[in-house]
Order: sequence, then C-alpha cells, then structure tokens
Amino acid sequence: MKRIPLVIANWKMHGQIEWMQHYIHEFVKASGTPGQSEIVLCPPFVYLQQLKVLLRETEVGLGAQNLHDSEQGAFTGEVSAPMLKELGCSYVVVGHSERRRLFGETDAAVAAKFAAARLYSLVPILCVGENEAERAAGITERVVQRQLDAVLQSCGIDVFAGAVIAYEPVWAIGTGVTATPAQAQAVHGFIRNYIASLSPSSASSMRVLYGGSVRASNVAELAQEPDVDGALVGGASLVAKEFLAICAGFNK
Ligand code: PGA
Repeated sequence: MKRIPLVIANWKMHGQIEWMQHYIHEFVKASGTPGQSEIVLCPPFVYLQQLKVLLRETEVGLGAQNLHDSEQGAFTGEVSAPMLKELGCSYVVVGHSERRRLFGETDAAVAAKFAAARLYSLVPILCVGENEAERAAGITERVVQRQLDAVLQSCGIDVFAGAVIAYEPVWAIGTGVTATPAQAQAVHGFIRNYIASLSPSSASSMRVLYGGSVRASNVAELAQEPDVDGALVGGASLVAKEFLAICAGFNK
C-alpha cells in the first residue's frame, strides 16, 4: 500500500503571533509547487486559532501537542479533544517523551489520551521510543512494544488503521544526534511487523514517522528507508525554510 508521507512540525513551547505570521508568509512564499507530502503544524494551544486563520488558503494541516482524556470537567489548565476539533485540528501528539518524562505521563495515561483523540476523530500521533540507557541495555524493542501494548490493550488493534506512530529515540531528541537510517529502519520495521502480526491491513495503512534531530541535511537518507513514512520535527521546524526543505526530502 502506498502511504503518503507525513511531515509534522512540533513547535513545542515556541512562537509568538508576529513570528508565526512571518513564518507562514515565508512558508507559503517558498513552497512553490505543491509537494507530495502531507504537512501539519502543531503550535502551542494558544496559537491554534490564529494559525488556523493563517493557514486558510493552504493545504497545511493543524495539530495540537497534547490533550486531556476527558471531554470536559474540573481539570484546570487542560484542553479536551472536542475543543481541539472545534478549533480545526486534525491531529494531536500523544505521549511525547517530554510529556512522559517531565510531566509524568504513564503508558496508561497515554492510552487514555489516544482513545479520547480517536473518539473525536482526531488522528493521534503516538510517540514511542527508548532512552539512552534502554538502548545501551539492548531493550529498545521491549520498551517500544510495551508502549504499543498499552494502547492495544485499552483500544484494540483496529485503532491502528490509518494511525500515526512516531518513533522518537529519546537520546536523539534535541541533541543533534540522529538515529542512523539503519537504526531507524530497524525499529520502524519492528513496529510495523508487530502491528502486522495482529492486523496486516492496519500495519500497511499506518504511517510510522521518525523523530529526533531531523534536519534538511539528514532527511534524504532517512526518507529512503522503506518503513520511514515521514518525520516529526522539533527544533528544525522553527525555521520555515529548513522545515520546507525537510518536507521536500520526502518527495520521491
Ligand atoms: P527535535 O525534536 O527535532 O528537536 O529533536 C523532535 C521531537 O521532539 O518531536
């Protein structure tokens, strides 16, 4: 099955209104002919509305970086799936390693968020990946499988049809150290085979993105790998031209 490459910008806690206006102007000006990839921008919550307006005449999609698993309630500071849907989001990042590590999100919490996103027809971008010690101990696959199992056990296999999984080795995020194409492919292949062992059709329709220090300079070799269907880009997505060059790296 042919999968359309997906390239996602995760701006994390960066951006200001004026910066964003300038960014979108640059992005639209430089994008020229439409590429073959689907492109999605994930700004901080407070800029979603503004960004939606700025993206009106473009093909670029909108995503959020997080959500709460409840529809509404007394959860100060939180944002729900129906709120994101109303603002025009199609995607939402779930279980980013910064959320897991800095905000204590457990596998079970991530699975609940995944289910909430699905319930409101948002496509969850499920982040998985091992840290440096886990890789050194040779348990990368075990860690990734545990993270997938948490979602599988609470949501079932069918939710993986058309889903997006981002393999993001924690040691590669924001460090400038990218996984080699072979390292990325090995884990992407493992993820796809694992899902295929439960549902071949889900495995062939889902997209597995790589994240962790993706740059314009290293995207081409990653994009050549058969199970790398796109990228989740942090730091390098903050510069419009660099991010566009990364998107172009997936035009085959
Ligand atoms: P990075 O971040 O591209 O800055 O390494 C990737 C991510 O955290 O999604």
